[in-house]
Parts: sequence; C-alpha cells; structure tokens
Amino acid sequence: MTTELTPILTKEWGVERSWTLEAYEAADGYEALRKALKIDPAELVQSAKDSGLRGRGGAGFPTGMKWGFLPPPDGGPRYLVVNADESEPGTCKDIPLLMATPQYLIEGMIITSYAIGCHHAFVYLRGEVVHVYRRLMEAVREAYAAGYLGKDILGSGFDLDITVHAGAGAYICGEETALLDSLEGRRGQPRLKPPFPAVAGLYARPTVVNNVESIASVPPIVLHGAEWFGGMGTERSKGFGIFSLSGHVERPGQYEAPLGITLRELLEMAGGIRAGHELKFWTPGGSSTPLFTKEHLDVPLDFESVGAAGSMLGTRALQIFDETVSVVKAVSRWIDFYAHESCGKCTPCREGTYWLREILTRLEQGRGVEGDIEKLDDIASNILGRSFCALGDGATSPVSSGIKYFRAEFEQAMTTPVDVSFPPEASVLF
Ligand code: NAI
Ligand code: SF4
Repeated sequence: MTTELTPILTKEWGVERSWTLEAYEAADGYEALRKALKIDPAELVQSAKDSGLRGRGGAGFPTGMKWGFLPPPDGGPRYLVVNADESEPGTCKDIPLLMATPQYLIEGMIITSYAIGCHHAFVYLRGEVVHVYRRLMEAVREAYAAGYLGKDILGSGFDLDITVHAGAGAYICGEETALLDSLEGRRGQPRLKPPFPAVAGLYARPTVVNNVESIASVPPIVLHGAEWFGGMGTERSKGFGIFSLSGHVERPGQYEAPLGITLRELLEMAGGIRAGHELKFWTPGGSSTPLFTKEHLDVPLDFESVGAAGSMLGTRALQIFDETVSVVKAVSRWIDFYAHESCGKCTPCREGTYWLREILTRLEQGRGVEGDIEKLDDIASNILGRSFCALGDGATSPVSSGIKYFRAEFEQAMTTPVDVSFPPEASVLF
C-alpha cells in the first residue's frame, strides 16, 4: 500500500512546541477555517458525506450522514460534543493528538459547528489525563485570544464557544449517551436508542457526537477536498487513520496510514516484533474486538476486510503479543477491566462479566473445574447480543476468540497455573 500522502494529522508531531497556535499557523493551521467560512454550511455537510469519512471512534458510522440526521433548525440550540474519553484498552491516538496538536481539534470543531449550526460545542475529556486537560484549555484560550472562537469569528458573523469538560474516569462514559448523561451532571449510564443523539442528545436537543480524530480530519478535508481524502484508503473505508501499535514491537507508537494497510506493513514501519521473538496474537481494534493471530498479518485494516476475517477495525489499537504471553492471562486481565467498568445497568453484562472473571481467575491459578471452558463460551454467548450497550458485547470478544484460537492453552490452564507455564518476561505486559 502506498503511504505517500500520509502522515497528515501526525505530520507536525516532531516540531518544537507543536501544540502552540504559532506552530499550528506556521503549518497552514486555520487556512481550512478561512475557506470554510466562505462556503454555504449545507455544502460543507455534503462535502463531509462525499469524502466518505467514517467515525474514527470505533463504530465507523459515516460522519457526514450523522451531521445530516440533525432535524431542520427550530430556533433552539443544537450541540457538537467531541468524545475525547479515549479509554479502549490499547487505544492511544486521540490523547497524543491532543497533546501534540490540539488546534487541529479546535479548528475541526469550529468548521463542524459552522456546518451544523451549533454555537456551543463541548469536549468531553477522559478524567485521568490532567496534563491533556491543561494543554487543551491553553489551546482554547489561545484560539479565543486570536479571534478563532467567541463572537463574530474572523468577521464572518458566526459565534462559537467551546467548553472543555473532564470526566471522572469511567470507561462507560465513552459510550455516547452515557457521556451525555455525565455531561448533564448525572451518573453516566447508557440511554435507550433511538432516539439517537442527532434527534435528542444533550439537554434533549439535537446533538452531533463525534470522536476527536473524526473532527480533526475535517480541516484537511476542507483544505484539500473530499476527492483527495476519498483517494486514500479502500472503496468503502476511505481516507487515513492513526494506528496505535503497542506491546512487543520494536518501536511502539502511533503510525498514520491509509485505511487498508496491513499489520505486516505497519510492523515494517515499527521495526518488527521485538528481536528474537515471534508474533502470537494481536487485537485489530482494542480488546473489544476479537483477537487475530499471525494468520491475519495480511488482512487489510479497513472496516470491511477486518469484519470479513471475523473481527472489527474498532479503534485501530493494535496490541501485539509475542510467544512469551499467555492468552489465558491476557484475556483474564481484560475481563478484570470489563467487570470493573461494567456500569451495572443490565443483567447480562453485570453478572456475566463477574462470572467470566471468576472462572478466568481460577484458570490462571490452575484450579479449573470440569466444564469451565464450555461455561466461559456459554456465558459469552449469553452476553453477546443481549446487553444494553456495546461494552457487554465487547467483553465477550477476547474470551470467545481466545478459546477459538488457543483452546489448548485454556485446557492446560485447567490444571497448571499460568504463572509457571510461561517465561518470566511475560510479566512485562501482564
Ligand atoms: P453504534 O454503531 O451504535 O453508533 C455509532 C454512531 O452512529 C453513534 O454516534 C450513533 O448515534 C450513530 N448512529 C447509528 N445509527 C444511527 C441512526 N439510525 N440515526 C442516527 N445516528 C445513528 O456504535 P457505538 O455503540 O456508539 O460505538 C461502539 C464502538 O465504540 C465499538 O465498535 C468500539 O470500537 C468503540 N469504542 C471506542 C472506545 C474508545 O476509547 N475510542 C471505547 C469503547 C468502544
Ligand atoms: Fe452497563 Fe454493561 Fe449493560 Fe452497557 S452492557 S449498560 S456497561 S451493564
């Protein structure tokens, strides 16, 4: 795959003080906004549709179509809410983007707000990342001082305020309706959909909820055109994306590339699996997506191909594990996370993740009870499709796929504690 046009969003990451407005403007920052403010808002929505941009938060819903779902203006407020509650295990793209070039997000938010007729936009930021909060607040302050935010932006007559809100550290608040409840000051739990936020979102008003990377992709689309963006990627998964590689690779980090690139190609960029070791298993899109193995090295990382191979592209969080890692132990750690983060609203997820954790813990200790592996499969299939939100479904992915590809390891764990069956360096990750 050719990567001639990328990087785009990460291009300036190495520049000194890249997070300042001065550095951003020196690299054509806010040129897209100047252009956008002369275009009819409806045309901007159409251009987002034409570009083929799909949500970069994991689900891949067409961004322009989501904007187009807003009902016609009725004189009341409508909102843009940016989901910056990045918490999917292994996902580390939005937070580095906000640290390196926060103005990308702010410029994208102003253009999007202008396109959808919003005058008050919000960023809901993961609560734990206080350093990111400070950086983003400073970037917002700089944008106000330069006239990019506030009243009559660049003399266009368009007004916009941005509020940055830090969450309190709950994974479920990344689910868009739980996020909206949390933003309204309530306990974050998913709402019944429909109505979708586009119709009744924040304060029951029409609301667009988009991921950080989706909105940051808007300025380059405006500047270079929908066709330019659509010229990258595959037929149905267009454009570029940031892939986060972590774990047993020589150079972990963020690699920006057109969608459809393969893990084999990304590993070449990242220096390969750490010396002397080989790939055992990996996640294409965080732990909520079914595991892949070395059989899947050449699967194009686009929504369709990853789906056809039995997983999901999700957040492009490629967690790479070599042969020193026990699958049982890895899956057990992920289930600890899901059981802890389950919001408790629905029974299949609340009870199911508890029992998955119980069984996996005893397997890790080599204290399996006859029928445990079948029970894991049974509990997972009873959670899948019966949970109120995607968290429950996601929790089943590592369990079902782990058993599918590495059943012998689960069988071994029935009687042999995992800690002594794998070399000590495995504990670097778990
Ligand atoms: P979803 O498919 O239900 O919705 C995706 C988006 O499309 C939402 O904004 C929704 O409002 C909109 N939408 C869907 N159908 C619509 C309709 N008919 N009318 C109007 N709008 C509509 O997916 P969901 O539950 O929002 O997200 C699940 C994904 O989130 C997973 O695939 C996972 O990869 C990802 N995820 C990401 C995390 C992160 O840290 N970035 C954390 C956990 C999960
Ligand atoms: Fe809460 Fe889990 Fe049910 Fe989602 S699936 S509503 S996180 S209990």
